Amino acid sequence: MKVLGIETSCDETGVAVYEDGAGIVWEELYSQIALHREYGGVVPEIASRDHVRRLAPMVERALTETGPPEAIAYTAGPGLMGALLVGASLGAAYAAARGIPALAINHLEGHILAPLMSADAPQFPFVALLVSGGHTMLVEARALGDYRLLGTTLDDAAGEAFDKTASLLGLPYPGGPELSRLATEGRPGRFELPRPLVDRPGCDFSFSGLKTAALYAARDLDDTDVLARADLARAFEEAVVDVLAEKSRRALEATGHDVLIVAGGVAANRRLREALQRMAGARGARAIFPAPDLCTDNGAMIAHAGWRRLAAGEQPGESRVRARWSLDELTSPRGPIVV
Ligand code: KG4
Ligand code: ZN
Repeated sequence: MKVLGIETSCDETGVAVYEDGAGIVWEELYSQIALHREYGGVVPEIASRDHVRRLAPMVERALTETGPPEAIAYTAGPGLMGALLVGASLGAAYAAARGIPALAINHLEGHILAPLMSADAPQFPFVALLVSGGHTMLVEARALGDYRLLGTTLDDAAGEAFDKTASLLGLPYPGGPELSRLATEGRPGRFELPRPLVDRPGCDFSFSGLKTAALYAARDLDDTDVLARADLARAFEEAVVDVLAEKSRRALEATGHDVLIVAGGVAANRRLREALQRMAGARGARAIFPAPDLCTDNGAMIAHAGWRRLAAGEQPGESRVRARWSLDELTSPRGPIVV
């Protein structure tokens, strides 16, 4: 059984084919970052138009190379409405023309299930930390389609905070990886930045106060102090990582699970990987990260999530895209789970 996956929720056009027993047999990913860079963020209308230009030839190539699939899975939300509509319309149209099911996949579920593609894949249940440019949340994944939100950001996403702080430091968009690189040259202890919400119970996050604290510190930097930017980058990264590690620790403690999977673009951050591995190790738990190219948005995670749902008996539902779509609203392919 082969499932073709389509991802167009933001600024990446992704197409991939997942096959039983073989895993990902075809993948193409096109990033629009260069188109959005001059605006310092993703411009929705530019994103939709570029998906329109790129997607159909990518799907044609996948079909030519891998043959007819048994189903098409497309990202139906959350994400940018116009961008989602491109993938959903094309996916639903191809599926209708070929008389095969079209599956509407939740982008966040795609991220959370991505580590299950690895050779040493964890089993349910586990805790997932999803950290990207658009989302920051801790989720208890009990079974396919059975997710409980443990905490989420009350304002900015972690990746967004990285990007905004990087921009204060004069780094190009998207600045997360650049800020992280600069931080490796920084020295610890020079700047004291807050750890928002760590003094309060629960697993919610807040990053806007930290970003503002970084803004004030950046305004006072002495231009002649060549290490100051690197020191501030390091202080910022350490603050974000401390908060993510502490809230993840609480999520493991609250659920009693011993596997933490980490997904989303920020999961590529080296300091975060080390801190989460340390935290999990100290509890006798495991922190699992998908391969770096599976951390960021891609078609493979959507093809894979579609394949899992189809294999579990999912029937195609109505084709509807949603800018907002919480993991709490998902159900298992065989209907709501009664616990
Ligand atoms: O998952 P993703 O590709 O797209 C979204 O769905 O948002 O995540 C992109 C985000 C950006 O904010 C980017 O700056 C951040 O992930 N990011 C990083 C690193 N690599 C990517 N943040 C910190 N350190 C990194 N190494
Ligand atoms: Zn994403």
